[in-house]
Amino acid sequence: MTSLLVHGQTRLSGCVPVGGSKYVALAAIPAALLADTPSTIENLPNISDVEVFAEILRQLGAKVEYTHQGWMTIDPSGLRNEVANQPLVKKMRASYYLLGAMLARFGEAQVALPGGDDIGPRPIDQHLKGFRALGSETAIEHGIVKVKARQLAGHTIYLDVLTVGATVNLMLAAVLSEGSTTIFNAYRGPFIVDLASFLNAMGARIFGAGTETIRIHGVKSLHGCRHAIIPDQSEAATLMVAAAMTRGDVLVTNTIPDHLDAIIAKLHEAGVDVTVSDDKIRVRNDSRVRPVNVKTLPLPGFFTDFQAPMSALLTTASGMSIITETIWDERFEHLNQMVKMGARVRIDGRTAIVEGVERLTGAEVTGTDLRAAAALTIAGMDAEGETLVNGFDHADRGYERLDLKFNSLGACIKRIE
Ligand code: EPU
Repeated sequence: MTSLLVHGQTRLSGCVPVGGSKYVALAAIPAALLADTPSTIENLPNISDVEVFAEILRQLGAKVEYTHQGWMTIDPSGLRNEVANQPLVKKMRASYYLLGAMLARFGEAQVALPGGDDIGPRPIDQHLKGFRALGSETAIEHGIVKVKARQLAGHTIYLDVLTVGATVNLMLAAVLSEGSTTIFNAYRGPFIVDLASFLNAMGARIFGAGTETIRIHGVKSLHGCRHAIIPDQSEAATLMVAAAMTRGDVLVTNTIPDHLDAIIAKLHEAGVDVTVSDDKIRVRNDSRVRPVNVKTLPLPGFFTDFQAPMSALLTTASGMSIITETIWDERFEHLNQMVKMGARVRIDGRTAIVEGVERLTGAEVTGTDLRAAAALTIAGMDAEGETLVNGFDHADRGYERLDLKFNSLGACIKRIE
């Protein structure tokens, strides 16, 4: 287990770049398996989920190499149709994209049910429904998801819920199918658009990514390509909230500000000074924030991944905020942990009522998922005294050494392995 010892009452200031998008990275890596020749993915984030996925691919026979820092070349020519390494698959959520990719490549796939953050039930019924619509048989036996098709054929798929995972998995499965596929009620997010750009650069014919209707005309084969992925929205939002909570002055660079409209608007509403120029966002704050209400929604609404840092910030607001989490059943554990730091919080199902306090005090807390671990670290930098954040390995799965980024801005954080 990795813990962080966080010295409190630090004020972040300076300039910090955002790494590549975790969601695009974790979809592009299996997408590269669909080609006949190698692909190079640039601007990959240095996170443990990327490492684990690379190792899963290597064990399946693909050649995966880092060429430069943040550049990965994937040569799928030696890929074998085997069951992926189960302990590795269970270390992360996105390993289930192997279902779509291997199904498209070999006409069948067997992948253990994935792991990932424990934030409430995480069904995969929409993935399976989509695979069946494309002509596949599906089964879950002994914890292994099995999908098999004689010939994948394009079809119309209506997703009952807005889901990132099913939208990605069905795009991966459909690009090599015979005929055309239409995904209605598809997830709208910049990472879906970027994945479509990557696949289209490989020769796929995907239209409408970023809208609720994605149309895919199947092609016979795909070739490798080179693609630089977009910056990570959730990391940018986390850094912005950290600047606000520590009453700092931080320039967050390498962002696409349009992807951050919801968090910029909420920070404005809370009284934080946020200014945007080109790919840079400057966040300045010198007082307690105003309370605001937050309701998470699928993008382009207030993204659920921004909720943990934002609600941590609101624990020191000058009044009461109501936070409603509509995507996940159990995404308030960071607030429960923050009660040890003096936060005043009442949680009722998917709603948290937060009464802001003037100052938090350091305590030993545990991050139970990746955003929770980041949120607790932010709270620790603001609190009086020292905070020990256990479970920081969750954050390493999706953030590029967040402790080092905070230290580069003047934080005093010690990593304890
Ligand atoms: N859902 C279903 N059936 C399905 C799939 C999803 O009912 O077949 C429901 C889920 O239960 C949830 C909602 O649909 O209520 C959205 O789930 P989604 O499929 O979008 O989640 P995911 O793909 O498993 C990804 C991210 C999460 C992020 C959500 C936002 C990855 C690896 N994970 O999860 O990221 O919170 O989208 O929707 O891409 C994180 O990084 O902190 C994280 C947990």
